[in-house]
Order: sequence, then C-alpha cells, then structure tokens
Amino acid sequence: TGPMTVGDLARLLRREASEVIKKLMSLGTMATINQEIDVDTISLVSEEFGAKVKVKEVIDESAFEELEEEDTPEELKERPPVVTIMGHVDHGKTTLLDRIRETKVTAGEAGGITQHIGAYQVEANDKKITFLDTPGHAAFTTMRARGAEVTDITILVVAADDGVKPQTVEAINHAKAAEVPIIVAVNKMDKPEANPDRVKQQLTEHELIPEDWGGETIFVPVSAVTGDGIDELLEMILLVAEVQEYKANPDKRARGVVIEAELDKGRGAVARLLVQNGTLNVGDALVAGSFFGKVRAMINDRGQRVKSADPSTPVEVLGLSDVPEAGDPFMVFTDEKKARDIAEKRIEKKRQKELGASSRVTLDDLYKQI
Ligand code: GTP
Ligand code: MG
Repeated sequence: TGPMTVGDLARLLRREASEVIKKLMSLGTMATINQEIDVDTISLVSEEFGAKVKVKEVIDESAFEELEEEDTPEELKERPPVVTIMGHVDHGKTTLLDRIRETKVTAGEAGGITQHIGAYQVEANDKKITFLDTPGHAAFTTMRARGAEVTDITILVVAADDGVKPQTVEAINHAKAAEVPIIVAVNKMDKPEANPDRVKQQLTEHELIPEDWGGETIFVPVSAVTGDGIDELLEMILLVAEVQEYKANPDKRARGVVIEAELDKGRGAVARLLVQNGTLNVGDALVAGSFFGKVRAMINDRGQRVKSADPSTPVEVLGLSDVPEAGDPFMVFTDEKKARDIAEKRIEKKRQKELGASSRVTLDDLYKQI
C-alpha cells in the first residue's frame, strides 16, 4: 500500500471527501482530494470524526521489519543482558556505573583508557553484561516512544538515606511499561543514616515486594563508594538473565539501535551502536536512521579496534555519511546499492513529512477538486 490520500481516508472513514477536506481546513490545512497526508494528520482527522485509527509505524521501521528474517530456535544463541541504571537524582547512578566499570573493566586492562561510548560491557563469572550509560537515557526514552525496547533489565537505584523520590517512581513506571524486570540496588549503605527497611517499605507501595518479605523483587544492598555488594548485584543480574534466556542469532547481518552519534572534527560521523541481533563487521554496508554508510572502522568500549561485534555488543562505528539520531534503528544490507536506496527513500520520506506540515494549496486548487 502506498501513501494515503485525502480521498483514501474519506473512504476509510465512510465520509464524503468534501467533509474530510472541510475538517482539514478547520484544522488549518488546505488539502485536495488527491493529496497525500501524513500519519499525524490521519490520526487527528480520524479522531475528529470519532474514529480510532491504528497507525502502524510505517514511516521509520517498515523497511527494516520487512527485511528481517525469522530466526529458527537452533540459530538462537545466548547473548549478554542489556542493563540500564535508573533512579532519582543524586542517588548514585553514575558512581555505581563507574564502580562497576572500575572493578570489572579497568583492572588488568592494558592502557586502561576507557572510551566513553554510551555503553560498556563487563564480565562477571565468565559471563558478559552490557550496561547502557546514563546518557543513554535519552535514547532509552526515544526508543520507548517508538515502541522499540533496548533494555532487558532495569537496575533501580534508591539511596538508603533518602528513600523513594519522584524520579524513583518515574523509573518504576518506565520499567513497568516496558515490561522489563527490575532489580533494586539499595545504595549508600555505608552511610550511618542508611535505612534499607524504609526503602523496602516504600517500594512495597509500588508493588515491588522484596523476596524476604514474600515478594518476587530482588533487592541488593550496595555501596557505590566502598564497592560493597557490587559482586552480588552482578550475580543477581546474571541470575535474572539466566531465567529470562536472552537470545539472538549471531550468524546473520546485524540490526540494532543508535545509542549516541556526533560529528567529530577529525573522524567525521561517529555513531555508537548497540548490536541487538546478528553480527556487525568492518566493511558492512548499513543504514542508520536515514543515513547510509560503510563500516570503515569499529572501536569497542575499551578503545580498541575490533573487526566484528556480536549481539548485545556496543561499538563505535566510523564511516556513516551523516549523523543519525539516538534511538534510530540501524540495519546491515548485504547489497550496498539496496542500502543506499533505502537510505535515500528514508531521507525522502523524512523530507516529505517535514514538508507535509507546511505545504498548502491555494483555494483555487481546492475548488477545482471538489
Ligand atoms: P544524577 O546523575 O545527577 O542523577 O546523580 P547520580 O544518581 O548519578 O548520582 P551520583 O553518582 O552523581 O552521586 C551523587 C552523590 O552521591 C555523589 O556525591 C556521590 O559521591 C555520592 N554517592 C554515590 N553513591 C554513594 C554511596 O554508595 N555512598 C555514599 N556515601 N555516597 C555515595
Ligand atoms: Mg549521574
């Protein structure tokens, strides 16, 4: 099916085209019967007529979804869980992330220079865990708005001396809406005024009932400052991952999301990607957002050049023609020409969408049509 015109919409709503055109006018848009209308306008007009339309995300994701091949159970392999840390301001999210990275990554690393790529991987008990860094929150929100989930597990950080606060509740609602398991990290346990029981009590009001109180939520007391409880926290993440059995197929072309991207003076467009399925290789042709690119080089979270990145791996990619947005999906195409075509189509669609909002026809045109 092609783009929808005013006439199509009228048919769908079982209304006269003139009625729809009038409605559009009252909403400030002059349109003719053959004019294409964008998704937002379709929803708006339908609502005005008391109809609910279900708009599929045709604009952005369709090209990818059509091309994604189904994985058979045999092709699916275990992949690391992708974890996001959320919580109220100053409850210790950044300190906790730093502590985890410090104890698990920098130790024994040659050079020890950790690259900021919006995400990083640590290893515990010979298993990997991918953490999305706090700036990843922007991407997290965008992706949620688009219905694409990146996170497998949410770590809810609550400071034991401060208790549940508005942003704690917000984070709970985020995680619940995304149907993502929550592990509670009761932080700042080293503080004399730490009161973990109060945190448990308060969270019970949000249906997060600790296991030792007969519920199902895992609570781990930690101190991001002393490092106490960090190992237990990582173990609990792996436990949840084992139960949930996160899987992906490493033996196909990669698909995933843009975590962050920017224009670097020396290196051009730099995109930090999270591979969600398949394996990304240097030399691959990919589309990210509406931009085409050939992976010229890849750098992992330790600043090392790598040739490939398998599922749940975050990497920095050089070689895109422009800077995509955080939350944009990306996909590799075996056919470079096809990748270029799709990127062009997406740019065109984006442009049309932008134009659609401002394009006006004259009254003359309108009357000719009716
Ligand atoms: P925002 O990014 O601003 O939302 O804050 P955040 O949640 O990242 O908190 P951050 O890690 O910046 O920590 C806030 C303050 O709490 C800092 O001064 C930390 O040193 C302190 N802090 C974090 N964790 C602990 C802890 O376990 N114990 C103690 N005593 N202080 C902590
Ligand atoms: Mg922070």
